[in-house]
Amino acid sequence: MEIKSAEFIKSSTDFKMCPEGKLPEYAFIGRSNVGKSSLINMLCQQKNLALTSSKPGKTLLINHFLINKKWYLVDLPGYGFAQTGKETRKKLIESIRNYILFREQLICLFVLIDARHEPQKIDLEFMEWLGSNSIPFCIVFTKTDKLSASQIDENIENYRQKMLEDWEQLPPHFKTSSYKKTGREELLNYIEEINRSLTMQ
Ligand code: GTP
Ligand code: MG
Repeated sequence: MEIKSAEFIKSSTDFKMCPEGKLPEYAFIGRSNVGKSSLINMLCQQKNLALTSSKPGKTLLINHFLINKKWYLVDLPGYGFAQTGKETRKKLIESIRNYILFREQLICLFVLIDARHEPQKIDLEFMEWLGSNSIPFCIVFTKTDKLSASQIDENIENYRQKMLEDWEQLPPHFKTSSYKKTGREELLNYIEEINRSLTMQ
């Protein structure tokens, strides 16, 4: 899919403040620092559309980016970031949770996982929660530039084995590097296919 336009529309603290209308949206979630905002920039081929930082906890609001005037990419705050105060963290978790559960326009959530790491409890529990609430999601393995091709496959296979303890299969998954700009076509084509099926309904 070609991205002809990508514009920042709004930052919201709460799902009720998110843009009105019925356009479909695809949101990125995962631990702080996993590379959500960088991935959005890579997909849109813009350097600073979504703000990134080497320090975790950069994105603290629900950010909507309108793509080709037809659908949204949504950058969410990361989870598992302990540096903020307890109250702030509680509010943040509540706001992400409500967005995921109640935002009707949310078509698919992309759960980002750092391809270098062993399966982490916080991600597995989060996906369990998605499953128990029937939220459709995919996995995106990020920062693959830090690994060799064989290490990536080994780590993904390891992830599959771990998930098969609780799931029948691994959900659709993608391998990306925002630095090397890999995985872009695959991810965008996936979204395009869903968008197409939605307009046929
Ligand atoms: P929060 O907003 O804090 O939740 O973080 P985030 O998930 O949005 O991460 P962000 O995109 O801000 O990136 C965090 C750090 O990881 C930055 O230093 C990025 O440069 C780096 N990073 C992001 N993507 C990649 C990648 O594909 N490869 C490598 N090597 N580093 C990356
Ligand atoms: Mg971010």
